[in-house]
Amino acid sequence: MDALFELDGPDPLTPAAKGGRTSAARPAADASTAADAPRAQAPEAMPAYEPAPWPDEEPDWEPGPEPAPEPADEAMPEEAWTPPSTPAVPASAAPTGGGWGAPLPDASALVEGLNPSQAEAVEHAGEALLIMAGAGSGKTRVLTHRIAYLLATGRARPHQILAITFTNKAAGEMRERVENLVGPDARRMWVSTFHSACVRILRADHAAAGLKSTFSIYDQTDSANLMKLVAKELDIDPKKFTPKALLNRIGKFKDELISPMEALAATEKASKFSIDYAAGRAYAEYQRRLDAANAVDFDDIIVRTVRLLQQNPQVARAYRERFRHVLVDEYQDTNHAQYILVRELIGKAGDPEPPPGEPHSRG
Ligand SMILES: Nc1ncnc2c1ncn2[C@@H]1O[C@H](COP(=O)(O)OP(=O)(O)OP(=O)(O)O)[C@@H](O)[C@H]1O
Ligand SMILES: [Mg+2]
Repeated sequence: MDALFELDGPDPLTPAAKGGRTSAARPAADASTAADAPRAQAPEAMPAYEPAPWPDEEPDWEPGPEPAPEPADEAMPEEAWTPPSTPAVPASAAPTGGGWGAPLPDASALVEGLNPSQAEAVEHAGEALLIMAGAGSGKTRVLTHRIAYLLATGRARPHQILAITFTNKAAGEMRERVENLVGPDARRMWVSTFHSACVRILRADHAAAGLKSTFSIYDQTDSANLMKLVAKELDIDPKKFTPKALLNRIGKFKDELISPMEALAATEKASKFSIDYAAGRAYAEYQRRLDAANAVDFDDIIVRTVRLLQQNPQVARAYRERFRHVLVDEYQDTNHAQYILVRELIGKAGDPEPPPGEPHSRG
């Protein structure tokens, strides 16, 4: 197998190489990648913060006409997990991962049968890792084996792992593959799509996100109906700019984390006949109406989670403390908003190391 794994290359989450937060170190579009990013952690004292109970076992959210599931009320039970006395558990010890299910395979078995590059990626400890390899060469296999390896060696507990991919189908497959390796412990992990993970975060921290607990998620039809009203109010000719076209442009603003005010300001330089002009005007009103309806659209799920983490350091810190390992499959498909989301979840590169003695994993 001709898999190329880029190890000790540029930190995929560190933009310093090219100087910009947005473009640098984003993988090339043709590269299939996965990143495992142990989060950094700021040591400064934070205001007391009680995280909301973690919703557990919430089914994956997917866009559609059905309203999103209500938040689970029950708190995640405390785990009966005892940290290993040594950082690495001998392979023969076969720990049970989270103490929830069948013994995990021993660590050495998890790298047997992998090629040397794959094994190196599975065992990697340290800074964020970007894996680049061709289609069908075993990237997801590395990612799932790495998850099992982290548990088997005691480097992570199940609930400390966040594994993200793009489609519900891919997330379902990844979950199944992880479950085949680690058994029922897989249910204690968040193995989900970006959107599903963000819905869970927004449900858990809705107040800090500026939403009521009953917030609804607009599907494409809801959004198009709302945009029709907005366009009518703003006298935007639907023959020139359809609601769908306006929504597409607004979706691109959101992918780039451009706010309604920024888009509106940019209309001053745009041609009055351009989509940027029409969408820039429509965006603010569309967003105002979404807010009034206590609703978010598909793109907002990511944008509002990014804002939640950026504007509430105590919330961000709680997630960083929880998710010791963030693994992203199909990393090359991340847009700017998703890239920043991962950055916020792991802590920015350059954040100081935690004080000595504080439990902390570097991957
Ligand atoms: N070292 C290996 N030994 C045996 N089988 C392997 C090995 N590496 C990968 N495979 C198998 O190759 C197939 C493709 O692997 P996988 O799905 O992980 O690839 P991928 O790079 O994620 O693919 P895609 O580009 O479609 O996402 C799977 O059936 C996997 O089990
Ligand atoms: Mg894959």
